[in-house]
Formats: sequence, structure tokens, C-alpha cells
Amino acid sequence: MSVAASNRDLTAVRNLLDAGRPLIYLQTPEEERAVRLLQAAAPETPLLTWSVTEGLLDGKRTLASQADGPRGILDFVIAHTKPAIFLLKDFHEFLASSAEVRRRLRDLYHACVRKGKFAVICSPIKVIPPELEREIAFVKLPLPDLGELQTLLREEAESLRVAGAAELAEDLLYTLGTALQGLTFDEARYAIRYAHRHAGQLDASAVALLQEEKRLLVGKSGLMDYVPDTVHIEHVGGLDVLKKWLTQRRDLFFSSDSVSVEIVPKGILLMGISGCGKSLSARAVASVFGLPLYRVDMAQVFAMGTGHAERLFADACRTMEEIAPAVVWFDEIENAITRQHQDSSGVLDRIFGYFLTWMQEKPLGLFVAATANRIDLLPAEMIRKGRFDQVFFIDLPDYQERMEIFRIHLQRRQVVVQELTLELATVRTEGWTGAEIEQAVISALTAARLNGEPLTDKYLLPALNEIVPLSKTMQEQVKHIRAWASDRAVCASSKGPHRKSSKPQPPASGTP
Ligand SMILES: Nc1ncnc2c1ncn2[C@@H]1O[C@H](COP(=O)(O)OP(=O)(O)OP(=O)(O)O)[C@@H](O)[C@H]1O
Ligand SMILES: [Mg+2]
Repeated sequence: MSVAASNRDLTAVRNLLDAGRPLIYLQTPEEERAVRLLQAAAPETPLLTWSVTEGLLDGKRTLASQADGPRGILDFVIAHTKPAIFLLKDFHEFLASSAEVRRRLRDLYHACVRKGKFAVICSPIKVIPPELEREIAFVKLPLPDLGELQTLLREEAESLRVAGAAELAEDLLYTLGTALQGLTFDEARYAIRYAHRHAGQLDASAVALLQEEKRLLVGKSGLMDYVPDTVHIEHVGGLDVLKKWLTQRRDLFFSSDSVSVEIVPKGILLMGISGCGKSLSARAVASVFGLPLYRVDMAQVFAMGTGHAERLFADACRTMEEIAPAVVWFDEIENAITRQHQDSSGVLDRIFGYFLTWMQEKPLGLFVAATANRIDLLPAEMIRKGRFDQVFFIDLPDYQERMEIFRIHLQRRQVVVQELTLELATVRTEGWTGAEIEQAVISALTAARLNGEPLTDKYLLPALNEIVPLSKTMQEQVKHIRAWASDRAVCASSKGPHRKSSKPQPPASGTP
């Protein structure tokens, strides 16, 4: 049987036909899928389709012209003398706008009971007027589940004549199937063909291409982006406590079927001093979990203010549920709070309330990584246990961490400096953020390039003079954040937020 007629949906539709319900409403954006489903559910009954543009068709043959309009087709169905299924496309428009159509549908209901005639309304959205609620049987076709997507992958692999299609390994099917979750059958099929055309095969290398379709899907809301460039955890310097926590929780997250629901990780809140790696760590979460990463721009959500913001945000949350398993990154949530306080309409309050409830009720396959600079602006209910598994404070890096960060950024640019230079640079950058250390490496690189030379030791130390670290200019704020975090958050590094200066004795010899 084709994947489009999976057992779950087929049983639902067949039950309604068997029960003789003459008016059925199928909510799905996929008309082709609805056609295949009805054909599979009642293979003996003729299936006719109607749309406002094409009129009534039996296959390709026109039976009634579009000029007859929605009222005309309902008359046609009522007058029809044989069993048949009439699939009415986009009929929700007329249900909402025409009292005449609503009345005629009620007539149709009574005229078709026990006659083997069915009118099936197929629409991507649900519009059922109250006066028809009793007569219309409603079925929402859910997005394909993992099993259905795996069947689709097998079918497509065979029809595309992919080498070894018949025996696509189970783990590969799982990887490719999860990459497709959240897509409709049509979108998934399109993504598979796109990936096959560009990758030349269907193996692990096709995952990024399959996710491309998802990127387009989430991008439609305007509030979410697919983030393709996740960060390997080894490219995050320091933060050993956070790294250990993530690596330990990864297995629990994936054992959600076998462990109790309470211990499946839900998400973390990363707060701390600007430039110390909150966003970087959020991107690393996705790579530790081996999941796609989606970023929700909270500033954008709240900037919408009144009007469509609530609905769009709820839609975005639903889309996230459909694309699970995934890591969802809410960047700078406190940005939302400050705006919220300026909002008098109450819309932002409601969005925020929705977010908090959603955080608690979202499906297990979604892991949230939220970041905030000023967690002290967040309401208490936000950081209440149960929403996030852990609140981590990311402090200024200590000596060891700064050295690690230097190494990461130098290595990334294929630069090797002497150990002594590295130690001096690390000592001189006490109180610097990771972002400032990276900036120093870039300045050194720029100076070297301007002189037409490769970056060597002699450029690194002078580059440090060009940067005034934030912790100097914003001493008070840094102190305030640290004090707030000390008894409310877990330090992401093992030294703790109130670590003493970890400055070792500067090396005895002079600058190289
Ligand atoms: N611990 C770190 N290890 C390696 N690089 C780091 C680290 N911290 C910061 N960086 C570098 O600084 C850049 C900026 O850091 P990031 O965007 O994660 O800071 P942030 O805490 O999110 O700051 P903001 O609050 O301003 O958004 C990173 O892309 C990375 O290159
Ligand atoms: Mg950030």
C-alpha cells in the first residue's frame, strides 16, 4: 500500500464511509493525498472532484462546468442517482460566506444519508459553521510520522533507482526520516528528490539537503530560522560544567521512550555577560544532540506588537512541534520582557504567558536553549523549576579558559604561536570576554596581512592594546549580574561565579 494511505488515516476515513456519514471534512493541505486516501478507502466507489476553477471532473472528463458554482455542485450531488464520492476542494470559502451553501449542505446531508453518496470537503484550514457541526464529520490528516516518512523514503529510493534502495539501512532511514519530520508528504517527496538530485544518492550526506526544505518551511513564519552552522562543542572554550551536563543529558533525551517523562531534558537557560559564549553554546547544544537547530527571534516576535503577533507566535510554536526532534533556540528572551513592560495592550503579556505554558507542555522531542543577558529582568515564573532543567551562568573566562579560547581562535585561522606568547596574552587579557579575545586575534591577523606577512607572535601582543574590555567599561553591570546569578544559577564553569582572580604569576622572561 502506498505510504499516502497509511493505516491510521485510512482507518479513520474508512470508518466514516462505512458509517454512511454523507458530509466529511478532511483538513489537509495535500489534495492529492486526500484523493489517494479516498480511493484506497473505497476502491469500488467512483470518485469525482470539484473545484471552483475546473468544475466537476470524473478523472479528466468534465461533468459539470465551473459556471454552475458551489450551489450548482451541491444540487448535482443531491440529484445524482448512484453511489459516489464527491471531493470538494476549497469549499471552506463558501461555507463561511454563503448562507445558501450552508442551507444546501444541510439538505444534502438529509438527501444522501444511506444512499452511498458522500460530499468530502478538503481544505488546509478548518471552517465549520455552528449550524453544520452536527452534520459534518471532521478528520484532520496529521503530518506523516516517522514510520510513514521511512516508508516514503524507501518508495522514493526505489523509484529513483537509488543503488541499494531495497536495503537502506535502518539507522540511515532513521536519520533521513527525522530530517524530514514536520514536512507534508508532498514537501517530503520534493525534499527527497531535491537531495537526490544534488547529492547523487540518499545517504547521510543528503541530510543537510533534506533539511533545506524544512528551512524554507520554518522561514515562512518570519519568526524562525533554520540555523545550518551549528558549533562543535570542542570549539567552545571552557564552560566544562555546561559541556558535561549536555553530554550526560544527550542519552536521556534520546531515551524518552524508555525513561520517565520527568527526567527527559526539556531545555536550558543560558545567562551571563555579553560576549562570553551564550549564543555560541546554544549552537553547540544542537551539535551535541545531533539535531537540527532553529532560532526564534524573540525581539522580532515582540516587535510585532498588536495585530497578528499572538497568532503568528502560536503558529510558530506549532510548527516547532511538527519539526521535532530539534533544538529550538530562543535568543535574548529578556529583550522581550523589557518590551513587554512598555506594552499596554496586553498582547505581549499573553504571548509571554503562552510561551511559558508552551515551555511546559511542548513535546518531548524539542529541547529549548534560551539565552539572556539580563536574567534579573525575567519574571520569577520564567526561571521556576519545571520550565528549564537548569539555568547556567556564563561568567568571564578564567585563565585556563582564556588560553583555551585563544587556542581555538588561533587554530581556526591556522596560526601557531609560541607557548610563552600565548601565556603572556592570556595573563594580559584578565577580565576579557571570549568575543574580545577573538577580536584581538582578528586585529592581529589584520595587522599582519596589512604588512603582507603571516600572523606570528610579534603581532599578537600589540593587538591586545587596541581593545578596552567591556568588563572595565561596564564594571558595575558585570558586578550586578554576577551578584544576581551567584545564588540563582549554576556556573557553567567549575570555578563558580565568585572565583578569585586566577591570574598565575606572569612568565619570568620578557616579551618574545
Ligand atoms: N567560550 C568561548 N569559546 C570560544 N569562542 C568564544 C567563547 N565565547 C565567545 N567566543 C567568541 O565570541 C563570539 C561571540 O560570542 P557569543 O555570540 O556566543 O556571545 P553572547 O554571550 O551570545 O553575547 P551577546 O550577549 O552579546 O549576544 C563567538 O562567536 C565566539 O567566536
Ligand atoms: Mg548572543
